[in-house]
Amino acid sequence: MLMLMLAATAGEATAKPKGAQLYGQHCAVCHGENGTGGVGVPLALPGFLSSVDDAYFRETMRLGRPGRVMPAFTRLSDAEINAIIAHIRSWQKDAAAPSFNTQPVKGDAKHGAKLFAQHCATCHGDQGQGGHGTGVTFSRPRDLPIIAPALNNPGFLGAASDNMIKTTLMKGRAGTPMVSFLEQGLSEQDIDDVVSYVRSFATPAESPQALLEAEPAMLVMESSYSLEETVAAVKRAAVGKNFRLIRDQYLEDGLYSEEELNSKQVMVYFCNFKFLYDALALDPRVGLFLPCRVTVVEQDGKVLVMTINPKRLSHLFNNAELERACDEMYRVYADILEEATL
Ligand code: HEC
Ligand code: HEC
Repeated sequence: MLMLMLAATAGEATAKPKGAQLYGQHCAVCHGENGTGGVGVPLALPGFLSSVDDAYFRETMRLGRPGRVMPAFTRLSDAEINAIIAHIRSWQKDAAAPSFNTQPVKGDAKHGAKLFAQHCATCHGDQGQGGHGTGVTFSRPRDLPIIAPALNNPGFLGAASDNMIKTTLMKGRAGTPMVSFLEQGLSEQDIDDVVSYVRSFATPAESPQALLEAEPAMLVMESSYSLEETVAAVKRAAVGKNFRLIRDQYLEDGLYSEEELNSKQVMVYFCNFKFLYDALALDPRVGLFLPCRVTVVEQDGKVLVMTINPKRLSHLFNNAELERACDEMYRVYADILEEATL
């Protein structure tokens, strides 16, 4: 009986269409296993699926949304991208995928700018930079149940045709804070004007690869004091920066017996709870590198103080708001290292 059940589940797993598997592997962590959203926006809502074409999905995956958490999937093959789209489309119970002509919408961008300030900026930001945070949250208090995406984003602008944007404004997205602006009293011409304005957003895209290469992974400084003195100095410097010390331990604690313990490597953990909560509200993934940690090692007669480089990490996370927080953290780390080794 048990054998039969196991066989049945295994059979089911292999019979799963590849798209579902790929979606589970690459998208579910942010958009939810069933497309209900999370760090990413929901993808399964009928109002969304009926207003975007497959080209939009394809380009959104290819380009990502630089600075807005959504990664660029440059390594997936066309066939894999199509399989993921087919899986997402399988949630669509009503009509088939729409298709839009790629003709530009002709509008008056100047008038559109005025309408944008009046009707869109409160949610999408005055420059179309998007709301604070991203996606959907079930736990933290935020401005909207779904955070308005960035519209001045090269990934969005590269993926959405004028007519797709127009449809979104005409119909809204039922089940989200994005309402129909035809129903809000704008005319079709007004909507064309807003589309022209949104199209006029252009942000210089910095290549994430270039940013990564510009940043070392670790910050390292040499201390002229002994290991113990340096550890004490790191603690003093952290406390001086309003951090609370959590603990310090030998790097190999728990891995070796007491006699074998390498006492030449000490890690100091500290935390600033306000910073932690602010950063967590921006992006739950900061949990991966907080609390703060500085490692002091003695190696070949030299004492080194080192820590991860928060700037390097924030580039990996593709979140512009988190990047600002990490820049702040970088300055604090650099100060602490400098003070401790002075
Ligand atoms: C009350 C807040 C709110 C207002 C006001 C608002 N939007 Fe939105 N908008 C949203 C949300 C939330 C979404 C994401 C909906 C979803 O998850 O499908 C969205 C989605 C969009 C999208 C699709 C972008 C994408 O990446 O999914 C476009 C385009 C857009 N809005 C344009 C506008 C424009 C232009 C205006 C003004 C005429 C406007 N919105 C007004 C909240 C708002
Ligand atoms: C690390 C998190 C993350 C992953 C992984 C991720 N996304 Fe996203 N995605 C986002 C976020 C965040 C947004 C909204 C961007 C914004 O707020 O400006 C988004 C936006 C989108 C949009 C635009 C939605 C709209 O309303 O127009 C699509 C489509 C999309 N993602 C598809 C995918 C697919 C398909 C995958 C897997 C191949 C994927 N995403 C993987 C975070 C992610």
